Parts: sequence; C-alpha cells; structure tokens
Amino acid sequence: MSGTTRHICLLPGDGIGPEITAEAVKALGAIGERFGMAFTFAEALLGGAAIDATGSPLPEATLAAARGADAVLLAAIGGPKWDTTDPAKPRPEQGLLGIRKALGLYANLRPVKLFSALAGASTLKPAYLAGVDMLIVRELTGGLYFGARARETGVPGAASGGGPGMRAYDTMEYREFEIERIAATAFDAARKRRGKVHSVDKANVLESSRLWREVVHRLHDAEFSDVELIDQLVDNTAMQLIRQPGQFDVIVTENMFGDILSDEASMLTGSLGMLASASLGDGTALYEPSHGSAPDIAGQDVANPLAMLLSVEMMLRYSFDMHEAADALASGIASVLAEGWRTRDIADAETLPQKLVGTAAMGDLVTERLAAAKR
Ligand code: IPM
Ligand code: MG
Repeated sequence: MSGTTRHICLLPGDGIGPEITAEAVKALGAIGERFGMAFTFAEALLGGAAIDATGSPLPEATLAAARGADAVLLAAIGGPKWDTTDPAKPRPEQGLLGIRKALGLYANLRPVKLFSALAGASTLKPAYLAGVDMLIVRELTGGLYFGARARETGVPGAASGGGPGMRAYDTMEYREFEIERIAATAFDAARKRRGKVHSVDKANVLESSRLWREVVHRLHDAEFSDVELIDQLVDNTAMQLIRQPGQFDVIVTENMFGDILSDEASMLTGSLGMLASASLGDGTALYEPSHGSAPDIAGQDVANPLAMLLSVEMMLRYSFDMHEAADALASGIASVLAEGWRTRDIADAETLPQKLVGTAAMGDLVTERLAAAKR
C-alpha cells in the first residue's frame, strides 16, 4: 500500500455481480473524494464469466491481479448456465473456493446486525429480534469443502439392485493449527465485542469436532480465559438462532456449518441481501456479500446492493484502517433505511410505493447520504 492510493481488484463475477459492483465503485468514488484517498480498480474474471472467456473458473491472471492488489472485492459467482453434476466439467464455485485457498483466507467474518429500521422485514416477530448483533466466524479453507473426495464406479453393493454401482464421498478433516488459528480470530474478535464465544460443533458424533473442541478449549485456557466460551452442538445452534438470537456475540465454527448457519442468521436481518463478509488470512484480504449471484433477477436493476456496500465498509476498516470513512458509509446506509427507502427484498407492508427503489437508485442514495454525513 502506498500513501494515498489504494488498489482494489474487482471480481464482479456472474448474475447480479456486475450491477452491485458498479454501486460499490460509485460509493468508493465519493469516499475517496471526501476522505482524500484515491482508489484505483482493476477488474478480473472469476466464476462462470471466467469459464466462458477462458475455460477456467479461476484464471492465473485473476490470481495475479488479486495478489497484486491491496484488497479484493468480489460480488457473486454461479448460475444455472454452469450447473452440472459432471465432476469433469468446470464449475464457477471452484473459482471461489480456489481463490479463498490460494490467498490463504482461512477466516470468514460475517456480521449479523439488525438495522432497527428493518425489524419489520425479518420473517421473525420483532420481539424475538431484540439485541441481534453477532459475528459469525466461519473457518474457510478446511473441513468438508477441501477434504478428500471422490466418485468411484464399480463398487459392489452400491447400486440400488445390490450390484456394482457408484459411490461418492467427501471428508471433513481438520488439523490442530487450522482450528487454533480460527479460534484465535474468534477470541480476539470477542474481546473487542461483548466477550462471548459460542464454539459450534457436532462433537457428539464427529471425530473432527472432538478435536475442534479440545483445541478450542486448550487455546482458551492458555490465552483467552477472560473470554466466555460456550460449546454448542450445531443442530442446537440452528434452533437457538431462531429461538433467542440475542444470546449470541461471536460464533466460531467449521466451514460447512458456518455456510449453513450464516444463511439462516441472515434472515434475522430481513434479507440475505444485507449480509456482508470479510475473508482474512495471511495475504490480501477479500470482501464479498454472503449472498449468491441471484441469476433469476440479474440485469433487472432490482438486486439489493447493501450487502456489497457493507462489505466495502468492512474493507475500509480491516484493510485500509479508514474507520471514519467506514462510519460515514455505515451511517449513510442507516439513514437511507431510516428514511424508508427499500429494495424489493427488504420491502414490507409499511414501504411506500414511491420508496421502493432499484439497485442503482439505492446506490445513489447511499452515496449521497455518505457524502453528506457529519464528521
Ligand atoms: C458462501 C457461498 C459459497 C460457499 C458457494 C457459492 C460456494 O454459499 O460464500 O456462503 O458455500 O462458501
Ligand atoms: Mg453460503
């Protein structure tokens, strides 16, 4: 990083990706002007767009562009066009998993915070949403996503008639150091928050979860005994998230559990379109909304750009140490919501028809408000 310039690698990807990326660039332009920072951008291909152009979901040039940037901003990848169950065909998701692994981004932080203006947009009754403000720390480069997997043919007893057929498996594997470093991330984060960590596993069944639990406790007792540590089974957590979500401060969990629980938790905020994320590790950090590429609404100017803008907020904080700018962006988003502006996904019975806006108009509103926010 140099002086007053920050170089951002943009990965717009597929579906609604390019539309929400445009809103992020727009907001960053205003932030740069106001806070004396020049943002430069370089776009690269990832996912389905990369498969179409190069045959690979993660071209070498994309990895090089990401490595050479001060931060990576990724929108979304995937779509029915590239859906296949054929293991020999490239899939967009391989690009996403590949870049996470290649950049060593083992810690995925997903804040779940309710904007008070959106209490009515959640599918839960407002009374259950009191105090919802949690951080899901998802392990991102291990577990089921990256363990040994295969499909084998000619396996006796695998076919429905009992004869030779196909068998497939995926493996959940964790090493001590992988558990230790993600637990440390969670304990560190809890110290800056309300000092509580729920470590979520399936230790009543899975060996990898039993190791997870041992390592988390060992680290806790040695270095973080000031933080409250609670073990919780993943099925119970899925229930507790709906029963009493206000009990959670930091949740730390393995890759697949974190994937599932974070989609569930997003609904507390009204929409998956509100959930941002930061993926941190040893090298360049990557920021992306937690939602997918929503191919069904791509190109229609109806997608919610707020998760993308909230991801930009995380980038300003974690990669650029621009806390004042991040605060201005956050308060810009809060003002727009408090004024009643809504994209379709977060609209409710209370939304005035004239305040229902599209992707670009929502981006404009946030950009105007952040430029006007008091400092
Ligand atoms: C996410 C997404 C990805 C994941 C998919 C698109 C591979 O669901 O970031 O949560 O499973 O990690
Ligand atoms: Mg997911």
